[in-house]
Amino acid sequence: MARVAVFGVGYVGCVTAGCLGRDGHTVVGVDVDPAKVAEVNAGVPPVAEPGLDDIVRAQVAAGRLRATADPAEAVAETDLALVTVGTPSADDGSVSTETVEKVVRAVGAAVRAAGQAYRVVVRSTLLPGILEERLRPALEEAAGRAVGPGLGLCNNPEFLRESSAVKDYYHPPYVLVGADNPEDADAVLDLYREVHAEKLVTNPRTAAMVKYACNAYHALKVAFANEVGSLAKALGADGHRVMDLVCQDTKLNVSAAYLRPGFAFGGSCLPKDLRALARFAEQKGVKAPLLAAALASNESHLRRALKLVRDAGERRVGLVGLSFKAGTDDLRESPMVDLAEALVGSGYEVTIYDPGVMLGRLRGRNLAYIDRHLPHLAGLLAPQPSMVLERARLLLLCTDVADEFDWRGRFRGRVIDLRKDLARPDPAPLG
Ligand SMILES: NC(=O)c1ccc[n+]([C@@H]2O[C@H](COP(=O)([O-])OP(=O)(O)OC[C@H]3O[C@@H](n4cnc5c(N)ncnc54)[C@H](O)[C@@H]3O)[C@@H](O)[C@H]2O)c1
Repeated sequence: MARVAVFGVGYVGCVTAGCLGRDGHTVVGVDVDPAKVAEVNAGVPPVAEPGLDDIVRAQVAAGRLRATADPAEAVAETDLALVTVGTPSADDGSVSTETVEKVVRAVGAAVRAAGQAYRVVVRSTLLPGILEERLRPALEEAAGRAVGPGLGLCNNPEFLRESSAVKDYYHPPYVLVGADNPEDADAVLDLYREVHAEKLVTNPRTAAMVKYACNAYHALKVAFANEVGSLAKALGADGHRVMDLVCQDTKLNVSAAYLRPGFAFGGSCLPKDLRALARFAEQKGVKAPLLAAALASNESHLRRALKLVRDAGERRVGLVGLSFKAGTDDLRESPMVDLAEALVGSGYEVTIYDPGVMLGRLRGRNLAYIDRHLPHLAGLLAPQPSMVLERARLLLLCTDVADEFDWRGRFRGRVIDLRKDLARPDPAPLG
């Protein structure tokens, strides 16, 4: 069983400290607030959470949980610190890291004084990069040695919700550790032996971002449901019933569908229907900024793709996939059409391959569409992949047409996969 210091016995810290004690670990809570320290030592949690009173009382009585205001005392008695202090918003909205840094420095100084091996695990919510760029130097400076064997630093984002925090502690969606060193990860996962959830390890930046992505997604869900509910009401429909039925679709709605970063959305329905809803909201004076923002967000994504292309510095571009998705010849509001037009307009030499949009095979409405709207693009369509490979110096893989496009070993230029590279930390060339 581990010996753990928990820095900050607020909502996250007190629940974590109590539950770790309950699971057999020896825990020392550390807080700058003497009233909270006294409360814990009296067996009373300083925060109100269902079930926490009994846990804290029992663990203090059993000698597995106590609290102190002295970081050095806590560090000397433990092997690992969980940092659960607050990370509030600064005036400009950025995350304030002052308290976490202070704690990390205090731990570092105590570790230096005691000359002991130690691990610092950040459970507070911090933006990706802060651990590496601010906390690591602070810890190393205070400890007088580098992070590595004998001095661990990693993160372990917390997913509990207030009012069901104890339940959530034991039943999280998963236990997530961000660690570059597998031994640090194992030490953290070992704390949660009694937590029956999937245990996942990734790097600290990804782990930190997962926490923000989850909270942003939850906030978006609430805002989305409220906007749809308000619009439904304005349109004379029952917003509750609407969202019941929306949630009942677990294939496309409440599922992983559409939740992978890729290129912009398009097609004959999504942009058109979003515009109609946003326009209706405007006319009726129903504020629905989220729905309207989805279109603006999509346009920004297109501009990000254009920047990626511009930054690649090649003027001869091969575009693989033109219709809004593979397997259709529907070009209406395809973001690839916008991309191609923007590139052509900027003087790029563009060659396009999409077997679904071969001129000879285009029928009726779509032929008329390309004739009317995109006659200049029609001339850029290559009937054979080899023509694209010969002409282009930069290949843009836009849709799953690229899965059948045999470029590996045949193309010597740069490749950008727009289905993936807009979310990659470093868009390395695939070719
Ligand atoms: N509250 C939640 O539901 C929740 C859920 C998941 C993650 N988080 C994240 O966890 C972190 C903590 O949130 P919280 O709601 O538990 O905060 P909180 O404000 O309830 O608790 C923070 C505690 O830290 C103490 N503290 C401040 N400075 C200290 C120092 N130098 N040394 C020791 N203790 C110190 C405070 O006195 C307080 O008791 C935040 O980053 C938050 O975003 C919170």
